[in-house]
Amino acid sequence: MVRVLPLPGGIGAQMVGLDLSRELTDEERQSVMAAWTEYGLLLVRDPRADDAAQLRLSNLFGKPEPSATPQLNDPYNDVMMTLAYEPGDPKGQFKQHYAIGGIERAGWLGWHWDQSFMPTIVRGAVLRMTSPAKLMGRTGFIDAIAAYDRLPDMLKTRIEDLEVVYEFNPDFASGQFGFPEDIRKLVVTGDDPAKAMRFPPVIHPLVIRQPETGRKVLKLSPMHARYILGMDRAESDALLAEVADRLVNTGHTYFHDWQTNDMLVWDNWRMIHSAEGVPLDCPRSARRTTISGDYNVGRYLDDALDREREVERIVD
Ligand code: OGA
Ligand code: MN
Repeated sequence: MVRVLPLPGGIGAQMVGLDLSRELTDEERQSVMAAWTEYGLLLVRDPRADDAAQLRLSNLFGKPEPSATPQLNDPYNDVMMTLAYEPGDPKGQFKQHYAIGGIERAGWLGWHWDQSFMPTIVRGAVLRMTSPAKLMGRTGFIDAIAAYDRLPDMLKTRIEDLEVVYEFNPDFASGQFGFPEDIRKLVVTGDDPAKAMRFPPVIHPLVIRQPETGRKVLKLSPMHARYILGMDRAESDALLAEVADRLVNTGHTYFHDWQTNDMLVWDNWRMIHSAEGVPLDCPRSARRTTISGDYNVGRYLDDALDREREVERIVD
């Protein structure tokens, strides 16, 4: 029997008693899918979970896809990748460090949904923490359906048909919306690969509906958001700042404290997440799958690009 146990704070749920070392029964599959639609974030806690269990979980929600960062993809299985921070590793993935709240951190990420700088939005992701950090390293989640419901009615009406332009942000210390006020970039030696990445701007609606239920989602990814399409810039800045603030600064968050091989799967059309990062001397390693999908309402700002879409993916 699989039990659905809501996580503290009412965001997400743990699937207790789900054995992913074998194929699931139809009944188990149905209870996972029902919980996914209801909660948008599921935790499977089993210290023995391995790549096979992670792929079995990922496959329930769609087709896992390789990322376009081949150096991260597993050479034997290109839909699995490793996200690791290793202190002092010159070839490491997390090159740009930030100080926030007086703590110098690697791997910090602001509030986002994955790949908001792309015209398609992947369905979700499964993150499995193979080696949790000794300190910090939590992943934060906000339910953007609940966040929409909390907005004042006037603001709901105002944002109803707005669209947001996104562009990949390689420098979080210059980010505009929903970032900590005291964020400071640390000087890091070596090149940050994120710097070399160029993604043309894309457009996504600010409000979408959950396909299964019609519930509205406050679909803002503060980390890469730039401006509201067709709106005066000062007005757009003020509005996005307010919406981001109401999305991320309300205390309605869940921060997951990872145990070894915990798996979290999130609905990327609904949840936003963030990475607390780790102190610079704290290693952390995770395995990650990305579940393909397209909610079919995103597009490139330049419609010439939109006619011949070529989407290149990186992890964020
Ligand atoms: C991701 C992500 C957060 C973390 O894998 O998309 O944002 O805590 N990870 O590693
Ligand atoms: Mn992410």
